[in-house]
Amino acid sequence: MTRATWRTRIGFILAAVGSAVGLGNVWRFPWLTAENGGAAFLVLYLALIVAVGVPGLIGELVIGRRSGRNPVGAFRELGGDRFRFLGAIALLAAAVVLSFYSVVGGWILRYTLSSATGAYFAAPGEYFAAIDYGLGAVAFHAAFLFATVAVVHLGVDRGIEASTTLMVPGIVVLLGGLAVWVATLPGAAEGYAFYLSLDVGYLRENFLDVLVAAAGQALFTLSVGAGAMLTYASYLGEDRSLAADGTLIAVLNTAIGVLAGLVVFPLLFSLGVSPGQGGPGALFVSLAGAFGDLPYGRIVGVVFFGVVLLAALSSAISILEVLVSYLIDEHGRSRLQATLGAGGLLLVTGSVAAASPAVFGLLADTIANLVLTAGLIGFLLFDGWVLGRLAREEFERGAGRLARLVSLPWYVAIAVALPVFLAFTFVTG
Ligand code: PHE
Ligand code: NA
Repeated sequence: MTRATWRTRIGFILAAVGSAVGLGNVWRFPWLTAENGGAAFLVLYLALIVAVGVPGLIGELVIGRRSGRNPVGAFRELGGDRFRFLGAIALLAAAVVLSFYSVVGGWILRYTLSSATGAYFAAPGEYFAAIDYGLGAVAFHAAFLFATVAVVHLGVDRGIEASTTLMVPGIVVLLGGLAVWVATLPGAAEGYAFYLSLDVGYLRENFLDVLVAAAGQALFTLSVGAGAMLTYASYLGEDRSLAADGTLIAVLNTAIGVLAGLVVFPLLFSLGVSPGQGGPGALFVSLAGAFGDLPYGRIVGVVFFGVVLLAALSSAISILEVLVSYLIDEHGRSRLQATLGAGGLLLVTGSVAAASPAVFGLLADTIANLVLTAGLIGFLLFDGWVLGRLAREEFERGAGRLARLVSLPWYVAIAVALPVFLAFTFVTG
């Protein structure tokens, strides 16, 4: 059986952007920004996207295209059996991330529907407390997972490419519309001021904490470390510049992330809610509260949570595909069997997270960061010290003059500087 490929280059780019743009942009990023001093965090985060995220992402793409395999097969193919464990880390990271991601996806699905009925308008805090964990959360998590399975089972081009080609432009248009609309709200200016004003003093005093948080977010937002980008790159048929594609993916993801901030902060400030108090869940409670108080709140609520839902779905698809490609390549399963098998596993692990706040918190706060960082360190050391010259060759394949010029600095970065830096954040975090 011949392996699936993307139909078009733009199809691959949009699928990868769909993976990158997700809860990380719309939920984790505004919340971390608020918690870490506003623009101080934003500046450091942007710097780390450039210095760590982009080279790391390209390092992952290189392994995928070079091997044309799922993560486990890729490391076996390129490095021999003793490197299969790197693929196993990727599978583990994918399972960990999707287990809590689909729980949040379930919450969002529920909020999208209940925005239409106004179910949470009267008491947003109580509403969230009633639905966050338990049987309802398990059911909505299952529904979100089912939607993910439904897309992935249709295949790389007919399922993933076709759906993300619609979803990503949809996210941009709807977010843009929301950004324009919130600009008209009274109090929006304070939100921009908070988001865009740089507090150098805060940054100086809390540099290490902000650095670690920003580094973790830079990896999470670009979907690196779990093999999702590796797997997507393994479906590339043509010789495009991975440096150019990786940079474009990061630029689009960052732009959409900043746009999300331009929606969320003015919205919160227009209601006099200060972000960053009460942790990650509080953001959604405050936003939901905002919709309850606004004119056309139901419509705005459906649109806002609908955008988040699309973003979450297109990311979940890429994570599920890691496990599916493994089952297809390594175990000879049909795509349907593989999708149902991986979906069944996540139904169980995700249900545990949906039923237990302790498990959810452990996965979302601690374990996810650790496995993603460990995964990326492994990928980059493999690029640098096992592939070596071949990694640079792959980097330069299809590349223009500029990319060939940065090939050596990139190589030094991924072989030495980034693993050292990531190991440092791993230990500090
Ligand atoms: N990048 C996604 C987001 O920002 C999350 C993700 C992490 C997706 C790892 C795939 C792999 O929401
Ligand atoms: Na992202």
